[in-house]
Formats: sequence, structure tokens, C-alpha cells
Amino acid sequence: MIIKTAEYSISSPTVGQCPNDTKNEFAFIGRSNVGKSSLINMLCRHRGLAKTSATPGKTLMINHFIINKEWYLVDLPGYGFAKRSKTVQQKLEQMIAGYILQRQQLVCTFVLIDVRHDPQLIDREFIDWLGESNIPFAIIFTKADKLGIVKARAAASAWMEKMRDRWEELPPYFITSSDKAIGRDEVLDYIESINNE
Ligand code: GTP
Ligand code: MG
Repeated sequence: MIIKTAEYSISSPTVGQCPNDTKNEFAFIGRSNVGKSSLINMLCRHRGLAKTSATPGKTLMINHFIINKEWYLVDLPGYGFAKRSKTVQQKLEQMIAGYILQRQQLVCTFVLIDVRHDPQLIDREFIDWLGESNIPFAIIFTKADKLGIVKARAAASAWMEKMRDRWEELPPYFITSSDKAIGRDEVLDYIESINNE
């Protein structure tokens, strides 16, 4: 798929304030600092479109970006950032859960996992919650450049194998690097296939 235009639309504090629009939405979620905002910029080839930071906790709202004037990419705050106050953490979790459970336009949630990390409880719980809630999702491994592609592929497939004890069918998964633009075509083709359904 070719991205002709990618524009910032709006930042919303609640699902009720998201754009009044029926276009398909694809959301990015995962631990703070995993690379959600960087991945959106890489997919759009637009540095600075979504705000990124070396310090976790940068994204704090539901951020919509409209692509080719036809569909949206949605950047969400990260989960599992221990340095936040309980109140802030709870507010963000409500924002994320409200958006994911209530947004009819959300056709796929991409769960991002740092390819260097072994499965963590918080990711497992989040993925199980998506499954129980019947939310369609796929997994995106990030920062493949930090391991090199060969090791990244092995780590990703080992990670997926560990899901087998809980899941009969494994979701699709992608290996990416926002620094090296690895996995861009694969993710965009997957989005296109859903848009064409
Ligand atoms: P929050 O919004 O805070 O939840 O974080 P985020 O998931 O949006 O992460 P963000 O895109 O802001 O990236 C966090 C840090 O990881 C930044 O310093 C990025 O430069 C770095 N980073 C993101 N993707 C990659 C990647 O593919 N490779 C490398 N080497 N660094 C990356
Ligand atoms: Mg972010």
C-alpha cells in the first residue's frame, strides 16, 4: 500500500471525544517506551508526526492520524509505566479500555512487544484481556535493529510459541524496526487487506 498523505487529526481524552467518523481505525498499544509512536512515524515516513521520547510516558491521549483521507492510525498511551501515580495510571487504563472496548471503528489493535524481552506478565494479561473481549489483534515486535534480524526472528518465534499454552490459534505477528524501516511493507499490506475486507 502507498501512503500518500498522513495528517494529525485530533487528541482525545476519552473515547466519547474521538472523531465523529465511520472510517476504519488501527490502534497501537503496548508498554510505555516500546515504540508505538515511532512505528506510526515509520509507517507514514513522517518523522515527528507522532510525538516520541526516550523517556517513557510521552503519549497521554488517544491520538488520531488520518491516512490517505481514508482510514486512521491511532496512537495510545503506554501501559505498565511504574513511575506514574496510581491515579494517573488508572485514568490512562480507563482511557485505553474505553477506547478499545467501545470504539466500533477499531478494526485491528496492534500490540507492540520489544523483541529483546521475554514474555512479561503485563503483556500476557493484556493480550488475554483482548482475547476474552473478542477484540481482533495482531502482534508487532519492535526494535529488531537492536538484536539484528536473524536473532529478532528467532526471539519473536520463541515468544509466539510461548503463547501456545493459552491459545489454540496464534494471531498474526510482524517483526519491525522503526530505525531501519524493517517490516513496513508487511504491516501496511496487512492493514490494506483488512481495509479491503
Ligand atoms: P510512550 O508514548 O511513552 O508509551 O512510548 P512509545 O511506545 O510511543 O515509544 P516511542 O515511540 O516514543 O519510543 C521510545 C524510545 O524508543 C525512543 O527513544 C525511540 O527512539 C526508541 N525506539 C522506538 N522504536 C525503535 C526502533 O525500532 N529501534 C530503536 N533502536 N529504537 C527505537
Ligand atoms: Mg508514544
